[in-house]
Amino acid sequence: MRRGSIAWLLGIGIVAGGIAAAVALALPWLPTPASREASRIDFEFWFVVTICIVIFAIVVAAILYSVVVFRAAPDDDSDGPPIHGHTGLEIAWTIVPTLLVTAIGISSTIVLSNDDALGKNVLRINVTAQQFAWSFSYPDANNLTSATLMLPKDRSVQLVFTSKDVIHSFWVPQFGQKEDTVPGMHTKLHITPDRLGTFPVICTELCGLGHATMRSTAIVMTPAAFDKWIAAQTKAIASPNAGQAGKAVFTNNGCGACHTLTGAGTTGKVGPDLDKLAAYATQAHQPLASFIRTSIVDPNAYVQPGYPKNVMPQTFGQSLSKQQLNALVTYLADSSK
Ligand code: CUA
Repeated sequence: MRRGSIAWLLGIGIVAGGIAAAVALALPWLPTPASREASRIDFEFWFVVTICIVIFAIVVAAILYSVVVFRAAPDDDSDGPPIHGHTGLEIAWTIVPTLLVTAIGISSTIVLSNDDALGKNVLRINVTAQQFAWSFSYPDANNLTSATLMLPKDRSVQLVFTSKDVIHSFWVPQFGQKEDTVPGMHTKLHITPDRLGTFPVICTELCGLGHATMRSTAIVMTPAAFDKWIAAQTKAIASPNAGQAGKAVFTNNGCGACHTLTGAGTTGKVGPDLDKLAAYATQAHQPLASFIRTSIVDPNAYVQPGYPKNVMPQTFGQSLSKQQLNALVTYLADSSK
């Protein structure tokens, strides 16, 4: 091969590879990782992308060079010269892809097994999905429940999922992994958050009318702040003061995402305004406390005019202990008087 041809091939390859690399780097394909697992997945992603860019550059160089240099003359209708084959070339294009695919296979296996390996002092969190809400409970911390996923930084966390109705799928983009939640099954996901911050929890499996609204938040905090949160919540729930305990239930279950309640500082507009509960009960011709209890346990029994049916989670009432339910009813009744 002439030296001029090699220069041309190299030139085209560098330009094509440069354009592909620019596209790969300029667009934000993946969010900045917030877990060790996501960082490993990121590495694997860029490892494969780099290989792809190099192969793309070689293929584009060979094609463009061939199109220009070996183009047939306009009046040339003959067949090309008979070529038997090129053993060296065939060995090369068999061995090189084999090595590349094997390398991707080995590195992916290492990433997957590292991502699944639980660390020391694992924190278990049970995640329950239901149309259309997430709830998180902490079996190691008095079965505390929360509508927000609270996580300590740099601690190995095992999420154990279940669903109360249909299949949902848990996804925090910054954690880099998705996991289906299936009724009757306990699926698992291991994460080790390594960046402080607030990240979206998204349902990524079409699960019904409210699928798009089935969102929550994951908050990664320092281990000290996490312990403090656990202690404060445990204290509030055990509080003999029903108002304080009820407020904790209200806050931990994310009621404020849909409901306005001045006392709890929430301004949700999806469901009825809980500051007006007394007026609603009068409208429904029911005593206030039993009106509130029924509305939590059996949300469709009476739906406030102007609000849609089937939006309030039907099984929410059953997810509360009797003590929590009583505290919540007392709290809501007191704060709307
Ligand atoms: Cu749950 Cu989509």
